[in-house]
Amino acid sequence: MIRVEDLQKSYGSLRAVDGISLEVPEGELFGFLGPNGAGKTTTLSMISGLLKPDRGRVSIADIDVWTSPKEAKRILGLVPQDLALYEELSARENLTFWGSLFDLPRPQLKANIDLWLDRVGLKDRAKEPVSKFSGGMKRRLNLAIGLVHNPKVVLLDEPTVGIDPQARKNILDIIREIAREGTTILFTTHHLEEAEALCDRIAIMDHGRILETGSVEELARVAGDGSIVTVNGPFTAAQFRTALEGEKVNVLSAAEHVGTATLNPDEINVVTLLQKLSEGGIEITDVSIQKPSLESVFLKLTGRELRD
Ligand SMILES: Nc1ncnc2c1ncn2[C@@H]1O[C@H](COP(=O)(O)OP(=O)(O)O)[C@@H](O)[C@H]1O
Ligand SMILES: [Mg+2]
Repeated sequence: MIRVEDLQKSYGSLRAVDGISLEVPEGELFGFLGPNGAGKTTTLSMISGLLKPDRGRVSIADIDVWTSPKEAKRILGLVPQDLALYEELSARENLTFWGSLFDLPRPQLKANIDLWLDRVGLKDRAKEPVSKFSGGMKRRLNLAIGLVHNPKVVLLDEPTVGIDPQARKNILDIIREIAREGTTILFTTHHLEEAEALCDRIAIMDHGRILETGSVEELARVAGDGSIVTVNGPFTAAQFRTALEGEKVNVLSAAEHVGTATLNPDEINVVTLLQKLSEGGIEITDVSIQKPSLESVFLKLTGRELRD
């Protein structure tokens, strides 16, 4: 349904998007997971036809978004990261303004607006100027605007950024519902739990590239099958790495006072690992053991943790 071929975009000497290709089949909920600056917004802007790529092609349901923008926009909904709301207008007026860009028959547009005001929980506040809305209400209205023409394909750019937990839950529930109704969804997030909870498949993104794509289970295997051991103590990154050199472990990350490694379950256990560290002069003040997860994969691929 969404086909992206070798997208590339530079800003001056910075390659913000560096050769991204992907295919999202109809009905899939696909997530881009990556830290700030990874290139998520730039990629989504090119997929939606707002930003011209330096190289590459995008088609939605076999419609090229750059050469046939009008046809593409009819089936495509975009929920941008930056709110596109008129503060002095009411929620209903905002929906009417944005919705009228889609050439829907009036009664159809009105019915859609009523439906979406209800779905995002703003029915009772529809007449108030948006300037009186909380951050969460604005995000929900922003979502409704992107969905008001009931698009078959929806692109959402960090739809839950900077809002309270309840508004976040409401938005995630709506994304789940439209996915269940058969909408093809591509959304971006820097929240690992969000990607984990929602997506059929996830692309882990950093520095303008996709590092790995798969379901949560497929991705978790990238970190290995063994447990993940995190050790704290007064050591340096270099000391941690040196102590484990030549051992049957995979160091996922090492930093001042904290190191993480995965074990190959057939070859080394936790006790042996701690012994090796101790022999290597590493003083341990705390240890935690986890199963492989999206978090450990992210750590392995990017060398850093994904934190807000
Ligand atoms: N209009 C722009 N001009 C210059 N640099 C930009 C512009 N938009 C984004 N960038 C840079 O491109 C990189 C990717 O940005 P972006 O796509 O916004 O990442 P993300 O959405 O993952 O946070 C960042 O380094 C950002 O600073
Ligand atoms: Mg962004």
